[in-house]
Amino acid sequence: MLNYEFFISFFMEQQIETLRQQLKKQEKLASLGLLSAGIAHEIQNPLNFVINFSKLSGKLLCDLSEIIDDNRENFSADDSEEVDDIMADMKENLNKIVEHGERAINIIRDILLVSRGKDDEFIPSDMCRIVKEYVWLSYHAMRAKQKNFNISIREDYQEGLPLIEVIPQDISRAVLNLMNNACYTVWQKSQKGIEGYSPEIAVKVWTADGLLNCSISDNGEGMTDEVKQRLFENFFTTKPTGQGTGLGMGITRDIIEQKHGGSLSFESKDGEGSCFTFNIPMKRQKG
Ligand SMILES: Nc1ncnc2c1ncn2[C@@H]1O[C@H](COP(=O)(O)OP(=O)(O)OP(=O)(O)O)[C@@H](O)[C@H]1O
Ligand SMILES: [Mg+2]
Repeated sequence: MLNYEFFISFFMEQQIETLRQQLKKQEKLASLGLLSAGIAHEIQNPLNFVINFSKLSGKLLCDLSEIIDDNRENFSADDSEEVDDIMADMKENLNKIVEHGERAINIIRDILLVSRGKDDEFIPSDMCRIVKEYVWLSYHAMRAKQKNFNISIREDYQEGLPLIEVIPQDISRAVLNLMNNACYTVWQKSQKGIEGYSPEIAVKVWTADGLLNCSISDNGEGMTDEVKQRLFENFFTTKPTGQGTGLGMGITRDIIEQKHGGSLSFESKDGEGSCFTFNIPMKRQKG
């Protein structure tokens, strides 16, 4: 066999093996999706009880404080002060239970969307909430893997945005891919012991000219001209085996451009960092 043919068949075999691994991973993820949808659904009910009973207890506490106010003359000054302190603490505790319970409910809603959302179903969504949720999901996933992972994340979300029709599980995937890359590069750079380097990622969501824009910029390692050219190529990765498959950017571009009719662009300076920006039309163009 000619050397050239041998090389081609060797290369093909490698590609097939990579695809096989990818498929295995996808199957695992699919069963994990079903499992998490089941758990999320089961947790939703008791959590709603916690939130509703906390709200109800807050109202009862207000009634109680009115009764106490009507009977102040029966308390000593010290007792009266102590009762006020306890009531204030209890109100604060109940507010915290409601606040954190609602945060947990939001996370569960997202898990249910990601794991059960029908393929390509456009749903009116709060883009700031999706971006925020997945930015922090990526951050915590990275922290779980690298114990000394510590970066500062600056967030700037435009207030009062209307709901936008998107495929939520796809947009979450896109944000996760961009954020994973940003976290990875600032972490890599921070391992180099560069004096005065403090890893930073900035996230921004804003609207302009009928478009919803989202940018994720990092002060990581930036990209060489070769990486910039091959960025969207499937299976192109500069990460060590097991840390990257080289599919993230291709998937992200398809989600933004093919599925949502938007565009994805980037700027990057080798050694200094990168900024990825995507935009999608606020009004979905159907068809
Ligand atoms: N923010 C970034 N900073 C520096 N390099 C980046 C950045 N984003 C992407 N890259 C480069 O582009 C390559 C391809 O990115 P892509 O997300 O497609 O694959 P990956 O991150 O290597 O693997 P995965 O499939 O797990 O996402 C990366 O390996 C990296 O070299
Ligand atoms: Mg990636």
